[in-house]
Amino acid sequence: MSLLTLVHILVSFLSCAEAISRADFPPGFVFGTASSAYQYEGAVNEGQRGPTIWDTLTKRPGRVIDFSNADVAVDHYHRYKEDVELMKGIGMDAYRFSISWSRIFPNGTGEPNEEGLSYYNSLIDTLLDKGIEPYVTLFHWDLPQALEDRYEGWLNSKIIEDFVQYAFTCFKEFGDRVKHWITFNEPYNFAIDGYDLGIQAPGRCSILSHVFCREGKSSTEPYIVAHNVLLAHAGAFRTYEQHFKKEQGGSIGIALNSRWYEPFSSADEDREAAARAMDFELGWFLDPLMFGHYPPSMQKLAGDRLPQFSTQASKLVSGSLDFVGINHYTTLYARNDRMRIRKLVMNDASTDSAVIPTAYRHGKKIGETAASSWLHIVPWGMFKLMKHVKEKYGNPPVIITENGMDDANHPFSRLEDVLQDDKRIQYHNDYMSNLLDAIRKEGCSVHGYFVWSLLDNWEWNSGYTVRFGLYYIDYKNNLTRIPKASVQWFSQVLAQKTAII
Ligand SMILES: *[C@@H]1O[C@H](CO)[C@@H](O)[C@H](O)[C@H]1NC(C)=O
Ligand SMILES: *[C@@H]1O[C@H](CO)[C@@H](O)[C@H](O)[C@H]1NC(C)=O
Repeated sequence: MSLLTLVHILVSFLSCAEAISRADFPPGFVFGTASSAYQYEGAVNEGQRGPTIWDTLTKRPGRVIDFSNADVAVDHYHRYKEDVELMKGIGMDAYRFSISWSRIFPNGTGEPNEEGLSYYNSLIDTLLDKGIEPYVTLFHWDLPQALEDRYEGWLNSKIIEDFVQYAFTCFKEFGDRVKHWITFNEPYNFAIDGYDLGIQAPGRCSILSHVFCREGKSSTEPYIVAHNVLLAHAGAFRTYEQHFKKEQGGSIGIALNSRWYEPFSSADEDREAAARAMDFELGWFLDPLMFGHYPPSMQKLAGDRLPQFSTQASKLVSGSLDFVGINHYTTLYARNDRMRIRKLVMNDASTDSAVIPTAYRHGKKIGETAASSWLHIVPWGMFKLMKHVKEKYGNPPVIITENGMDDANHPFSRLEDVLQDDKRIQYHNDYMSNLLDAIRKEGCSVHGYFVWSLLDNWEWNSGYTVRFGLYYIDYKNNLTRIPKASVQWFSQVLAQKTAII
């Protein structure tokens, strides 16, 4: 055997040993891709769909960077069959999508709209026909405008009953086939971005003396919204438990977004700041869901601006989860905010934690940044976050309901360069390896991993300027789906069903 051959064998053995595969994960571990109705469907004026707060926001100037809206998006409403074939082709086990409330109830309440029911019935049947398990989100930010107009949406506790009614209808209509439900997507995000910073729907805020928003109160409204969301979540969970669980046998969770916060230094004040940052993001929702109350640090710092749970409500909310969905993308350093100048300037909820989050330490960035300026690539954050959830919350079942990264949509890039998305492949390889370490070395109870996203799509305030997909969307050529290199990579990762060794 020549030396060259030997080297060749060695190299391929090493790269083989490093390459991640489905077989490394526990039996039954689920791989899928995730999407949301407003970012994918388009067809906003079809099927008797009612308008949502996002349709309204995108018509207001200056809210979306490329002045776009999701009226067409990636036309998933008409092309779902083709898209399900693409998932199947990669070897995905599951698809996480959201139901648009205003397709089911165009006015938020009343009688369900047959066309809306029929669309989601066809999507669900198409998935099951191809052996792909539906994971269904009930609320991914697109609130019916009617409820915003009627009583200011999530600010009013009337919404709890209307959400539970909507959830009941979905369980009743789809629950014979849907066995995994996610009540809310990223409530942290829509509470802060919608009611504190005012950049997302419904675009309310009071920061900097109302220069950005006519109405709102950034110091209180995010807390009220989050409280109503938690009660609505618990209401839906208990309704399922009472009326459907025995017969349908499904499970219910929530998808919480959480960065990992690494202490800026080993000083006590920074370690405490990092713990507070986790409390104010993940703990805001997960503490009530697991323990029946808000984190003590939040109670202390937000004081009476934080609503309280009655004894009865606390019992209702506590334990209202079969699994914890985590949307994880990135990590920041957390530093104690001694001066509280940001608090004085902002007078809002987001500065209550007294933390200065930063991507830099001693002039060095925590990781390379993707196209979105908030998305620093820090794979080890996944491991630490999983360990934190295990240790703080008693190792509940976790599903990674979103993980992914974006490239910029440059008008003059060459297609072949854009399709060679090596950075995305590296991102998923490294985040999945850290997830695997958390499972194997720490015994974290993680049961699934959903890529954001199958297709490039409409990214909220960033519009079409960024691309998160495994498939490239040719926006200038009839929204054609073109596979990037990551499609091939994922097919290989998922192909191997059993361990070789
Ligand atoms: C929705 O509400 C409007 C005004 O309240 C009413 O005119 C319309 O008929 C309602 N539509 C449905 C489908 O209930
Ligand atoms: C655009 O693509 C859709 C879905 O693949 C197809 O049905 C339609 O005929 C195409 N339209 C044109 C103009 O090519």
